Formats: sequence, structure tokens, C-alpha cells
Amino acid sequence: MATRKCAAVVVGAGPAGVAVMGNLLERQLGTIAWIDPSFEAGRVHSKYREVPSNTKVSLFQAFATATQPFQKVINNTKAPNAFSALAKLDQESTCQLGYAADMVRSLTEGLMKMDDVYACHGSVRSAHLNETTSNWTIRIKQNSSEDLEIEAARLILCTGSFPTSAPIPVAGLDIQRLDLDLVLKPSDLAKTLPAEKPVTVAVVGASHSAILAILNLTTLAQTSHPLLRIRWFTRHALRYAEYKDGWVLRDNTGLKGLAADFARSELEDDKLRTSRAGQVLTKIDCAGGKEAEASQYRRYMPGCEYLVQAVGFTRGSLPDLFKNGNPLAIGFDHDSGRFHEAGNSEDVPGLFGAGIAFPERVVDPLGNEEYAVGFWKFMKFLKRVVPSWTS
Ligand SMILES: Cc1cc2nc3c(=O)[nH]c(=O)nc-3n(C[C@H](O)[C@H](O)[C@H](O)COP(=O)(O)OP(=O)(O)OC[C@H]3O[C@@H](n4cnc5c(N)ncnc54)[C@H](O)[C@@H]3O)c2cc1C
Ligand SMILES: NC(=O)c1ccc[n+]([C@@H]2O[C@H](COP(=O)([O-])OP(=O)(O)OC[C@H]3O[C@@H](n4cnc5c(N)ncnc54)[C@H](OP(=O)(O)O)[C@@H]3O)[C@@H](O)[C@H]2O)c1
Repeated sequence: MATRKCAAVVVGAGPAGVAVMGNLLERQLGTIAWIDPSFEAGRVHSKYREVPSNTKVSLFQAFATATQPFQKVINNTKAPNAFSALAKLDQESTCQLGYAADMVRSLTEGLMKMDDVYACHGSVRSAHLNETTSNWTIRIKQNSSEDLEIEAARLILCTGSFPTSAPIPVAGLDIQRLDLDLVLKPSDLAKTLPAEKPVTVAVVGASHSAILAILNLTTLAQTSHPLLRIRWFTRHALRYAEYKDGWVLRDNTGLKGLAADFARSELEDDKLRTSRAGQVLTKIDCAGGKEAEASQYRRYMPGCEYLVQAVGFTRGSLPDLFKNGNPLAIGFDHDSGRFHEAGNSEDVPGLFGAGIAFPERVVDPLGNEEYAVGFWKFMKFLKRVVPSWTS
């Protein structure tokens, strides 16, 4: 098996992996190996191009220009391009995530051509730490050539997350799961659901994904799928981001953008009776604890043909990690971006994480704790922690 030596290995080429690359290259550490099966901006391109952003265009623009290597890519990319397309949009508005995905793909394409980047199409399978040398040996299954080994002092995991799947809440129910990713892509959703017969879809959840799922299903019911109905199972009131003086309450958990506008105008209890959404949707209040929730599911989920769960995101599986030949169990430190060995507070040398799977923990002026998930949030976190990762 071929072995190479690099200054660092970055796993994943979603927005977080790209942000890590920009920050590492800026520090001129030597060659950075970058591994991803496709180098196409991660899930934002493969799944969420049709999703409206919940952040302003200006934050995607800030991301695109946040590091010197990114600026070099922009300068070397013939216009019109993904950057000029983003620049033309109203910076104070939101946009389809397709624009953000194209920006990340163009950055990726430019970074991959740089001398200090060794890009490898494949998947990191395992990483072995030799404690004596503090070096990692990283094994990569390449898409279309033999396996590869890279030795590096730093390994950065930007491996992403996928929609959480919980057990179907009523035993023995004949109900078909609808993947959240599919429901967030209206063009595919329209083709998947039957248009010519009555169908009821159960939607579980009340955060961004759930509200967009309801919006997409409602739109279908009002257009091509007039027999479609929705039962919305929610265990908490709608929560919105609130813009305070210089900070945002529920910045990471509250509804923003189109989802917030739709929820405010159509899904609040005092709107449902008369709103357009209310004509095709029944809200099932599941608040009041586990027993009350279970009883609502038992009562109202039978009769639904489909179920979409919008109950958060779960970290994707990580490469197998070893220390001195033994399996290594890790915990993430959301303040420093480092990892510690499970049951031990000492940092694992040279191992770091970023992105939706490994977000920064933030605390607002009222003491509320949240995880900072978003393009610009990843960048801000990395600008703070990468200097300590590389010192
Ligand atoms: C529906 C939705 C909408 C969102 N909207 C916004 C928004 O409007 N604005 C905003 O700022 N943020 C938004 N976010 C939040 C966040 O910016 C995105 O989730 C973002 O795509 C996360 O990027 P990531 O790089 O962490 O992960 P991902 O995009 O999931 O990328 C991970 C990459 O790592 C690769 N990978 C995984 N394991 C390995 C391995 N072992 N070896 C090699 N490669 C590997 C994967 O193939 C993938 O390419 C949204 C999130 C969701 C879910
Ligand atoms: N561009 C966009 O508009 C957009 C769209 C989707 C997602 N996103 C981003 O993607 C990230 C994930 O967002 P998300 O909305 O998918 O998830 P999320 O913000 O992690 O919220 C998960 C929601 O699921 C609920 N939940 C968890 N377990 C449940 C259960 N068993 N039964 C019922 N409800 C349950 C939670 O309620 P409790 O609080 O009661 O646990 C919470 O409301 C966020 O960063 C978000 O900004 C953005």
C-alpha cells in the first residue's frame, strides 16, 4: 500500500471541510490531504439545493471571502461564476441553498488545484495514533484505485450528520417512512406521493426541518396533490429566533426566514382555522410528557399512510480510531474543537472536529446554551480555534 506524509488530513468536503481547508492553507503548514468521496459540497448540494436558506446571503458571501486561499480561488475563477451569482442576490435576503452549494463547489474546485492540496476521492476507513510519535496513520479506501495510507500529525473530522430516525411510535402500524431529505426536495416529493388517491402524511417535529416539510406538503396539497392531508405531531410551541440588541435569542434553534414567516402566518393556533395550510393540516398536540405524547400517537397516527420524522440530525459514522493498536473511544470538546479519550479529560493529540457533526457550543447573554450550526458559524469557530490546533 502506498504511504504519503502530509501536514494534516481533512476528512470531508462539505462546507465545514472547505472552511477547515481555507484556514489551514492560510497558515502554510505544508501539504494538506483532503479526502471525500465526491468533493461536491456535502449534503447541501446532494440533498438540500431546493431548501430556502435560513441565513442571509451576506453570510454565504462572508464565508466565500473569509480566507486568503478562498480569495485566490475567486480571483482565478472566470466570471460569471458561482461567486458572481451570489454577489448579485439581495444580500439582506435569504436564497435557495443551491446558490450556497455552488459557491462551496467552486471553492472546492479551486482549492483542489492548489499545490499544497493533495485531494483524494475516497473514504477514510481508519486512523491509528502512535502515541510515541503523536502521528496518525490514516487509511483511505479510494473510489477507483488501490487503498492509500497517509501519515500526518493532524486529523480533522468534518464528516457531517444525517436526519435522525426514531422508532415508529405505534407498534404494528402499517405506515411507510418518508425520508426527511426527500420531503425537503419538492421536485422528488411530488413524484413520490400518489396524486390520484387520498393520502395522509404524519409529520413529527416543529423545528426548521419540520416546518419546511409541512410547507412542501401543503404546497403539494394545494396544487398537484389535492387529496393529500397532513397530521402534524408536535410536542412544543413554535419557537422563533428573536433579534435583540446585538445578539439573537434562539439563534440556532429558533425559526428564521421563510420557515418562520410561514409558521407565523399559517401554523399558529390562532391562524390554523383560517389559513390555507389549516385547510389541509390537522395539528396534533403531543405536549404534556411521554404518556400524553404516546397516547396522541396511538390515537391519531393510525390512518396515516406515510410518516416523516423531522426530529434533528445524528452524527454520521466515523472512521475506526485506534491508539497504539487499541480501539480509541472519544468525546468531543465543543469549546476547543479537540477530542478527549472517553472517560479521560486529556486531549487526544492532533485530532480535531468541525461542522454540523462537531459544532461549537455557544452561550447567549441569558445563559442559554446552543450548538452553532451554519456556514458562517463554522467559519467563526475555525478562525478562533485553528491557530491553537496548528501551534
Ligand atoms: C436542511 C438543512 C438546511 C440548512 N440550511 C442552512 C442555511 O440556510 N444556512 C447555513 O448557514 N446552514 C444551514 N444548514 C446547516 C449546515 O450549514 C449544513 O448542515 C452543512 O451542510 C453542514 O456541513 P458539514 O460540512 O458539516 O457536513 P456535510 O455537508 O454533511 O458534509 C460532510 C462530508 O463529509 C464526507 N464524509 C463523511 N465521512 C467521510 C469519510 N469517512 N471519509 C471521507 N469523507 C467523508 C461526506 O461524504 C460529506 O461530503 C442547514 C442544514 C440542514 C440539514
Ligand atoms: N435552511 C433551513 O431553513 C433549514 C431547514 C432545516 C434544517 N436547518 C438547519 O439544520 C439543523 C437541524 O435542524 P432541524 O430542524 O432538522 O433539527 P433541530 O433544530 O435539531 O431540532 C430538532 C427538533 O426535533 C424535536 N424532536 C427531537 N426528538 C423528538 C421526538 N422524539 N419527537 C418529537 N420531536 C422531537 C425537537 O424538539 P425538543 O426540543 O422538544 O426536543 C426539536 O424541535 C439546524 O442547524 C437548522 O438550522 C435549516
